[in-house]
Amino acid sequence: ASQVLKCDPSTITFSPSSDEPQITCDETRNALSLASRHLVDLQQTVVFPTETVYGLGALALNATAAAKIFSTKGRPPDNPLIVHISSLSMLRPLTPRGYVIPKACEALMKHFWPGPLTLLFPRNENIPDIITAGQSTVAVRMPSHPVARALIATANAPLAAPSANTSGKPSPTRAEHVYRDLNGKVGLILDGGACAVGLESTVVDALHSDGHIRVLRPGGITVEDLERVLSEEMSGAAEIPKVLVHKRDFADEALENAPTTPGMKYRHYSPSVPVVLVLTLPSSSGNFSTTNLSAHISKFRQETPVEGDLRIGVLAPSDSKLWETLQSVEGVIWSRRPLGPMADPALMAHNLFDGLLHLEKEGVHLILIEEVEEDREGLAIMNRVRKAASDSIRISMG
Ligand code: TXA
Ligand code: MG
Repeated sequence: ASQVLKCDPSTITFSPSSDEPQITCDETRNALSLASRHLVDLQQTVVFPTETVYGLGALALNATAAAKIFSTKGRPPDNPLIVHISSLSMLRPLTPRGYVIPKACEALMKHFWPGPLTLLFPRNENIPDIITAGQSTVAVRMPSHPVARALIATANAPLAAPSANTSGKPSPTRAEHVYRDLNGKVGLILDGGACAVGLESTVVDALHSDGHIRVLRPGGITVEDLERVLSEEMSGAAEIPKVLVHKRDFADEALENAPTTPGMKYRHYSPSVPVVLVLTLPSSSGNFSTTNLSAHISKFRQETPVEGDLRIGVLAPSDSKLWETLQSVEGVIWSRRPLGPMADPALMAHNLFDGLLHLEKEGVHLILIEEVEEDREGLAIMNRVRKAASDSIRISMG
């Protein structure tokens, strides 16, 4: 069985002037030093919390250690990993000698690090090919979670870490999600409680020669946040960089085809239960005949016979009309998981994977997720929901 050690983030602090963690509790200190030994001396993987999701970490500059990440997750080898650092001094050696960070990139680092933003850099040759999937860039982020940062600082080495889940499953936001999925496959899990953001980091390419910023994967830092900071920080520049979103504003050839953003082409975030996206916004397009929910449920019942009562999990904004609509459907046991108010997409993002994984554990036969507006964190929510859903329906409500 995997060893799970409590590692309370409130017992770790970083002063702005130092990259060394101050740890006020023996349990935390011991957990971090054991984890560091697993990583550095044994070249093993360790699961640790970040502010986005739990990560499955290993030494980034050690190909043997990094390979264990791929085998543990069953991750395709052409999907590169994010390298996590705890201080800016760890970034230098990851980039080529003499490399000068572009202004826009520097502005984003200054504002959002430590935090849920991953940036691409040209890679130094010392980075094993397995980390970058042979590409010329390396993805780097400095997490803000005290346990993540303290672990990297204690190991005194950058850590490669994808989300700590079997490839294709929703990312874990609690230690118990990891335990359920990877128990026995990892030696050590650091339990730092629930992840605040609950969705993965935003992956940004700020290296393009046209000066504009490309969001390769929407996430914890919103497009609106990026735009605001760039317009504030770059106000003196000749042109304020635009923020382009993959698929909406650009579809890079290299991104569409492996191996550049490999994360995008795989089926993702799918629990072992079928997920259906419920379209309710007037703006959403698609060739769906609008019908009532009962008709869809009857069809599902015919296609997928279940023993006993049909149990359906529902994830939707807490102020959605969908909750009332459920009452009109007979013969279903509902598991209701309100995500939070529509006006608070950050809270809905925080509850999304947790809700999916909770419903999967409950053993529902089907999960319905209602669409949300694609502004702020809603963009990342819908990116994940579309990948999780095998089908979508449009329903009329009221
Ligand atoms: O929040 C997060 O980012 C979490 C925590 C643990 O830090 N990590 C995470 O890692 O989500 P992972 O491996 O599940 O997703 C990494 C994403 C993938 O979509 C991958 O294709 C992309 O980053 N990526 C990594 N290196 C890249 C590169 N050099 N160029 C383009 N995309 C890259
Ligand atoms: Mg992942």
